[in-house]
Amino acid sequence: MSKRAIIADILKAGEYGKQVLVKGWVRTKRDSKNVVFIALNDGSVIHNLQIVVNPANFDENVLKQASTGACLAVSGTLVQSPAAGQPVELQAETIEVYGTADPETFPLQKKGHTLEFLRDIAHLRPRTNTFGAVFRVRHALAYAVHKFFNDKGFFYIHTPIVTASDAEGAGEMFRVTNLDPINPPLNEEGKVDYTQDFFGRETNLTVSGQLEGELFALALSNIYTFGPTFRAENSNTARHLAEFWMIEPEMAFYELEDNMELAQEFIQYCVKYALDNCKDDLEFLNKMYDKELLGRLNFVVDNNFERVSYTDAVEILKASGQKFEFKVDWGTDLQSEHERYLVEKHFTKPVILFNYPKDIKSFYMKQNDDGKTVRAMDVLFPGIGEIIGGSQREENYDKLLNRINELGMQPETLWWYLESRKFGTAPHAGFGLGFERLVLFVTGMANIRDVIPFPRTPKNAEF
Ligand code: 4AD
Ligand code: MG
Repeated sequence: MSKRAIIADILKAGEYGKQVLVKGWVRTKRDSKNVVFIALNDGSVIHNLQIVVNPANFDENVLKQASTGACLAVSGTLVQSPAAGQPVELQAETIEVYGTADPETFPLQKKGHTLEFLRDIAHLRPRTNTFGAVFRVRHALAYAVHKFFNDKGFFYIHTPIVTASDAEGAGEMFRVTNLDPINPPLNEEGKVDYTQDFFGRETNLTVSGQLEGELFALALSNIYTFGPTFRAENSNTARHLAEFWMIEPEMAFYELEDNMELAQEFIQYCVKYALDNCKDDLEFLNKMYDKELLGRLNFVVDNNFERVSYTDAVEILKASGQKFEFKVDWGTDLQSEHERYLVEKHFTKPVILFNYPKDIKSFYMKQNDDGKTVRAMDVLFPGIGEIIGGSQREENYDKLLNRINELGMQPETLWWYLESRKFGTAPHAGFGLGFERLVLFVTGMANIRDVIPFPRTPKNAEF
């Protein structure tokens, strides 16, 4: 018998009498004189397989080495388990120790560490129940994203990670260069000469794949991107990362209403997918971290999102009688305290705000006839705030060019984007879903650093 069995499959089948070989890491070991119990986990499922060892049959040293954190291969016979909550257990016949974990120094020797402590050992935290659960859910959600769009006939487009443009016009970019930082080549004006840089121009890590995505939507009709994006914004919050993953669908012939409908359907699909496919992990997270998690997820799947214009939302906030830290007035960007009031107190459901003032939104959004607002939409979620940002796009060449100039951006660097409005332009719309914010919502975790394997935040890129 040399083929390894997966613990998830063993527990699911619940068949006994069979010989199996399992491999995994020791979660706990309980010794007594006549029997040793080892809880083995291979990451395939939150549950452990109980290994029952008769110490008389094994070298004392092997059993000593099989301590918490050690990696083992165990073969034996599956037997019906007398213990509650598990169908079968494994009667060990052979044990091979692949790797020991010295109890004196293994950081996960004891249970009950705080999430903050685990962030400092990001290289080992996948070995905990919590992070196992979170990252299995993250995987399921990523799969759901592709399944949703594939089933709808959308094409997955890989937009570039290194770009020469600033898609959001917010100037929050990480530079990409291979020039010598100590002694860069200078031009006649004494400035760094980027024509000598690797790409012959200034380049940066992308903040969004949208602009390139639009070019493909104006050819393949319905596309989406799903890739890493980078923002050098110094936001040290539980909702911001410097490197995060974004899903950006872009649809030709969609208007703002179609966009809102798709956004709701998309999120509900992903949440439902997790509820249907990650039951054990979500129940664990519900029990350990957030007793209302499952209730909240079901609520989002079952209820329509409220659609409210920015202007109406500002009126609601002003009339609320709430004391906000930041004052609300028409034209100001809403802070997360305002968004959360609307979602958690006023409407008590997800909210889609639309038609924002043009001055607080990006250059590419379609201008409304009132001259003041654009066809923007933000989807706001309980406990999260903004989970999606999107808009109908300005498809009129002159209006788009005017806006780029008005904002002091350089049309030369966007000539290719502008040409999409010159040749065969079409109404179109799209949005961006912050993947980690979705994972935060679905897992009920409180900090975005705990739903991405290796978080990049200001002053933090060690692992
Ligand atoms: O609202 P944003 O900036 O929109 C865009 O980037 C558009 N190009 C999207 C589009 O229309 N195609 O970002 C979209 C979403 C936000 O709603 C949020 O969920 C997430 O990306 N996001 C972040 N997530 C984690 N850390 C950050 N620093 C984030 N910035 C934005
Ligand atoms: Mg936004």
